[in-house]
Amino acid sequence: MAAAGLPELIVAADAGALAQAAAERVMARITANPSRIAICLTGGSSPKKLYQLLGSDPWRGKIPWNRVHWFIGDERFVPESDPLNNMAVARATFLDRNAPSGHIHPIPTTADNPDRSAEAYARELQAFYGSESLDPARPLFDLVLMGAGPDGHTASLFPGFPEIEETQRWVVGVPKANVAPFVPRVSLTLPALASCREMLFEIAGHDKQPILTRLLNGETLPALRARSNGETVWLVDRAALPEGIRGGR
Ligand code: 6PG
Repeated sequence: MAAAGLPELIVAADAGALAQAAAERVMARITANPSRIAICLTGGSSPKKLYQLLGSDPWRGKIPWNRVHWFIGDERFVPESDPLNNMAVARATFLDRNAPSGHIHPIPTTADNPDRSAEAYARELQAFYGSESLDPARPLFDLVLMGAGPDGHTASLFPGFPEIEETQRWVVGVPKANVAPFVPRVSLTLPALASCREMLFEIAGHDKQPILTRLLNGETLPALRARSNGETVWLVDRAALPEGIRGGR
């Protein structure tokens, strides 16, 4: 059971089991929706195993690709050809071989600057959703995938930066990053990310132990503030757990 104030915590034995559990949750959300499905992907290294799984048999055979649309929660403001580009990683790992191209919705990084890029993506999301205002009864996404950075950022919402406080816009330009890679970013905001049936964090590996410890202690960092209007789940592996609770799970 989740401690008060914290999301539901699910512990997997290792990174492989965590990716498997994440794929099962993705499939459960897909199966639960008989019509058009929207999934918001994330960047960083944590979801790569999940993306590989979704693109491999038997998973890819179970996905109704013609009903699923794939978005991204944040992007590094670099060309699509740059290995740092988050959507390019997802495309190369599983989307390009499986999803109809019109169902892949990258954040455009060809605009003059991150603010223009954010405006363009907000328009794309609003056109997809069919409204410029979010209705709590009708979530934008079925599932939003997230990760937690070493400073407690999530998407490209960094602690102490003004973008984390945004309440109106769906997408914002982030002129500088708090951690590497130090390139400008474009990020969905807390209210846009919250508009989902489920927000699923993947937090794996020993390197994540310090930040997971801080989050579990209730530090109000972006990764703790990001919540779904529906269900929020932190999927963590044992290596990321604080020493004190590691053996007990
Ligand atoms: C990004 C991400 C970011 C990421 C965390 C965790 O563009 O960098 O979307 O929010 O999820 O930084 O990254 P790792 O999975 O690499 O630890």
